[in-house]
Amino acid sequence: MLTLLKLLKDGHFHSGQALGAQLGISRSAVWKQLQRLEADSNLSIHKVRGRGYQLAFPLDLLDEAGFSNSCYPVHLHEIVDSTNAEAFRQINKGHSAPYVIVAEQQNAGRGRRGRNWESPFAQNVYYSLVLRVDGGLRQLEALSLVVGLAVLNTLKDFGLQAVGLKWPNDVLVGDKKIAGILLELVGDPADVCHVVIGIGINVNMRTATGVGQPWTSMSLETGMRVERNEVINALNKRLKNYLNAHAVTGFSSFHAEWEKNHVWQGRDVSLMAGLHQVDGVVVGVDQQGALRLCVNGELRTYSGGELSLRLRDDS
Ligand code: BTN
Repeated sequence: MLTLLKLLKDGHFHSGQALGAQLGISRSAVWKQLQRLEADSNLSIHKVRGRGYQLAFPLDLLDEAGFSNSCYPVHLHEIVDSTNAEAFRQINKGHSAPYVIVAEQQNAGRGRRGRNWESPFAQNVYYSLVLRVDGGLRQLEALSLVVGLAVLNTLKDFGLQAVGLKWPNDVLVGDKKIAGILLELVGDPADVCHVVIGIGINVNMRTATGVGQPWTSMSLETGMRVERNEVINALNKRLKNYLNAHAVTGFSSFHAEWEKNHVWQGRDVSLMAGLHQVDGVVVGVDQQGALRLCVNGELRTYSGGELSLRLRDDS
C-alpha cells in the first residue's frame, strides 16, 4: 500500500494503467488497493474518468532512509494500533533497546487516562522510544517531565516560541495542546525494566473531529507545512541529550528549567482524581516530579498517572 501511496503522493493525476505498470499488477488490482487505501487511511482520492487517480492533497511520507544518521535506530511502520503497543511487542520478542518506533498512522493511539490519541495518516508524529533501565528508581525520577522539556525544545527548534508545559506532561501553545507524552513501563522499576516513551506531536494536522480538548499543530502555529522526518530527527537529538544528562544528575538539574516553563506556575487550579477534586495554588514540582500545591495554606504533594489539572475559573 505504501508503494502505491508513494506513486500518488505528488498530488498529480496518475492513470490506473501507469500505476498498474509500475506496481506490476492489473488495473483492477490498482482499483482494489486504492479502495483499501481510502478506507484504511482515511485519505480522499479523486477518480476522474480519462485522467486517473489523484490524492486530494499532496502528502509527505516518512522516509526510513532519512533516519539513517539518527542517534537511535528508527523502525518505520505504515499503520499500527499504537506505537507504544508495538514497542511492547518488540520488547517481548527480546529486541535490544534503545530503538524508536514511528508510524504513519495509529488505529488505537493511546492517550493518558485511557483516552484515545487522534492519529490520522501522514499528518503527525507518532513516536515511541524504548529504553532499558537498569539503574534503579533514580533513572526514572521525574522522567516524563524531562521528556516534556525535550519535546518543548524540539518545538522551539522549529520556531514555535510560545510553547509551555502543563503538569505532568502536556505540551501546550496558549491553552491548546500540541503534544502529549505517555510513559509506560514493563519489568521491575527497582531493578531492570524497559520504559516506553510515547510521544504524539500534532505536526501538519489542520482539522480533526475526534479531539476532545482545544488543540493546535505546528503547521497551524507556523503557517507552514513541517517535514515530519526532520521533527523526528530533532526529537531524537533532544531526547538523547536530555536523557543522557538525566541519567547522570536525575531531575535536579532540570527542576528550575521545568518550573520556568510551567504555564500554570502560581495559578489557582483544581486537581482532579476521578470525581475527587482538590483546589489549591501551584507551587511547583518536587524532586520526583510530583506536583506541589498549596491547599488552604498547607503544602501538599501529588503524584500519579490518573491525576489531571484544571485552571480554576477565578484564576
Ligand atoms: C496524552 O494523552 O497526552 C498522551 C498522548 C500520547 C500519544 C502518543 S502517540 C505515540 C505513542 N503511541 C501511543 O499509542 N500513544 C503515544
